[in-house]
Amino acid sequence: MSLSRRQLFTLSGGIVSGVGLTACGLALTSPGGSTGALLPSRVPLPAPFVTELPRLTPLRPDRDGRARVTVRRKGIEILPGRTTEIAGYDGLFPGPTIEATKGDPLALTVRNELDVPVVNHLHGGVTRPEHDGYPTDLVQPGREREYRYPLDQRAATLWYHDHAMDRTGPNVYAGMAGAVVLRDPAEVDLGLPRGERELTLVLTDRSFGEDAELVYPVVDGAIDHRYHGGLLGDVMLVNGTPWPRLDVDAARYRLRILNACNARRLELALDPGQDIVQVGTDQGLLTKPHHRSTLTLAPAERADVVIDFSQYGVGEQVTLVNRLGDGAMAQVMRLDVARRATDDSHVPERLSTIERIDPSLVVTTRDFHLALGQPMPGGHGSHSGNDRSLPMWSINGQPYRPGEDLFGAELGTVERWRFTTDVHHPVHAHLVHFQVDQDGAPAWKDTIDIGPTSRAEVLVPIEGFRGRYVLHCHNLEHEDRMMMADFSVG
Ligand code: C2O
Ligand code: CU
Repeated sequence: MSLSRRQLFTLSGGIVSGVGLTACGLALTSPGGSTGALLPSRVPLPAPFVTELPRLTPLRPDRDGRARVTVRRKGIEILPGRTTEIAGYDGLFPGPTIEATKGDPLALTVRNELDVPVVNHLHGGVTRPEHDGYPTDLVQPGREREYRYPLDQRAATLWYHDHAMDRTGPNVYAGMAGAVVLRDPAEVDLGLPRGERELTLVLTDRSFGEDAELVYPVVDGAIDHRYHGGLLGDVMLVNGTPWPRLDVDAARYRLRILNACNARRLELALDPGQDIVQVGTDQGLLTKPHHRSTLTLAPAERADVVIDFSQYGVGEQVTLVNRLGDGAMAQVMRLDVARRATDDSHVPERLSTIERIDPSLVVTTRDFHLALGQPMPGGHGSHSGNDRSLPMWSINGQPYRPGEDLFGAELGTVERWRFTTDVHHPVHAHLVHFQVDQDGAPAWKDTIDIGPTSRAEVLVPIEGFRGRYVLHCHNLEHEDRMMMADFSVG
């Protein structure tokens, strides 16, 4: 779904400058419902379904719960036969997949060998504020720090990524993102597919320049204003490989899918069409499996799904498609059903227990409006990315002011948060999780996708730790352009 300029004008309540800027190239929405503009690559694009899907490199903490990663630049092969320099955890893109166990604390040392400051954030983690990766809590070049993650929370597919003030978009784009699989030994009994038949898929879109370099269009230290609405790449990468393929058994597979794109929304489906059985969300298992024909994932959202390839014939090629993508971006990867196989996995009707929060417990209801704000005072200038006449993205009319709380919440209470938006914004809060109603049952999320015509309402138990955290849009170009707010838990 895309907005015409007229609709945008209406929804943004007369932000005339925004409309004027659209005329000189500030693309806010693209066809297909992502907020952003496509940056075309300047190299020939690789043929799809040639390279095999790589398994992600696991990172297992040692017996004392310690692990370490070094952020560094490395030339790697992403496009066949070409070298692309990335900046990633241990020089990998995506970073290593941290394999952790619920309740076992992790002490992760992050060493920064880049020439820019970085911040590490465990997305979806319930973490003390000093370890949470507040945007100005920087690890300077040549330094390292230990982040402590209690991981005393539901098992789920989490992820870690950079969170540096004003630079999260370029840093993540350069490679600073990896998955975290937080397991609960009690879930093994459920019988979901595991071992070789459990895969983590990290989805990212990227664009490449003439020398196969990753292109992030920055002008004078800020995003080129044309991509102010979000940067969309024209190469779909799964685990860092363009449009890969994988031979699968005619059996059930569990796929943990992470949308790690800066701005691109995905609507995933199988072709030939069969049901995708969703078993989990951002914050772990659903109460019961849910059959769906398509699965929409906004940036930072995760889904845990089971696909039964025995529904297909041996020799059949099953494409994972993106219904919101155009041309080559309408495809993600291909799964080739290679052989018959035995399968003792199953998907039980009862996956987990989630207690529905009694709405009468709500002590505070808050309204958040995520929208393009007014230009910063100080006015008109050049057409550089720093142009202060460009409106900033804002929450409740307020561009991000680090250190100033938008609100305070009380530990141990339950709040109701309501969101409205102008265009699509995936909203994410640190520390707390959102209880949503999904298909008639409660489910846990940490990021929710809010479209221009919808309003979202979530229940938020204020649990974990006291201190200052952030709430922001996870379209990283919006986040860097101030769509963030502080809140404190007291
Ligand atoms: Cu995944 Cu504050 O971010
Ligand atoms: Cu946004």
